[in-house]
Amino acid sequence: MLITSAPMKTILFGEHAVVYGYPAIASALDIYVYTKIRKITEPTLIIKSREYNLEWRYGEPVPKELKPVVEGVIKSIERDFDVKLHKAGIYAEIFSDAPPACGLGTSAGTSVSFTLALLKYLDVHYDKDLINKYAFEAEKISHGKPSGIDNTIAVYGGILKYIKGPPPKIEQLSQMTPLNLILVDTMIPKNTKKAVMMVSDLRAKYSIIDNIMASIGKIAEEAWRELRKGEDADIEKLGTLMNINHGLLSSLGVSSSKIEEIVHFLRNNGALGSKLTGAGIGGFVLGIIRSEAIKEIKKKLNTVGYRYFISSINMSGVKLLKQK
Ligand code: MEV
Repeated sequence: MLITSAPMKTILFGEHAVVYGYPAIASALDIYVYTKIRKITEPTLIIKSREYNLEWRYGEPVPKELKPVVEGVIKSIERDFDVKLHKAGIYAEIFSDAPPACGLGTSAGTSVSFTLALLKYLDVHYDKDLINKYAFEAEKISHGKPSGIDNTIAVYGGILKYIKGPPPKIEQLSQMTPLNLILVDTMIPKNTKKAVMMVSDLRAKYSIIDNIMASIGKIAEEAWRELRKGEDADIEKLGTLMNINHGLLSSLGVSSSKIEEIVHFLRNNGALGSKLTGAGIGGFVLGIIRSEAIKEIKKKLNTVGYRYFISSINMSGVKLLKQK
């Protein structure tokens, strides 16, 4: 039996613009997707998703929720390692701390934790780059035209600056800025594929969108310079950059009235900055907050009844949690 975990993520700066080649900055969260694999006597491969409440057996039609894992990860591993898993005697169970389609990279976290679990179980040689490659195959199935940032952060953890490839340019922060991230759920499922398509349609019609993308890229660069200062980073400035980034995302049409409500709720209750994070429309809203203000904002969030996480930054990326 073995269990792996992969962190979920939040995009601090630069979503959507990252699809067009501009830098984005993502942080891994202290919230996880897990895969547990155990041996079974039955000669088959079964995958159970707790969150989607479904089970798939090798050979059956693949439910769309499991297509990324089956057609991205399993197929790639079967091809590259010349194995057939239809008689493997494997029961894999996937579960997570946050619901699927919430915008915190559950789909990437799923592919990444599943890939590590399967490679470990098969006892084959691998490295993190290989996990990332398979998880990117899976992301292409779930999102159509992903930049690759979600799988990359789930594999490596920490805070990354990411420019899409091939090959992607990735920089990792060497000294960490202590950030308290607050994530509030809009309770509206996000749809990355749809949001990316909407932005692409808008860009095809209005040339100004390219300038907006370039401005988002500049914000990400400026934020990166600040984050590289580690302990000395100006958190207030990062907050303001987040607010500006949010305004530009709204102009791309990926905000919504619920997102705006939460963005302003956070700003009015002690957050230094707030923005939508990930694809938008639904999903989560991100804020940064000083440690001293956490207690107060929690009280307010509880009074309104929002569902939220307060998270620090995961440093290790995908990991084997247990093996026996
Ligand atoms: C989704 O988490 C982030 C987007 O920029 C899409 C992508 O990068 O693939 C909206």
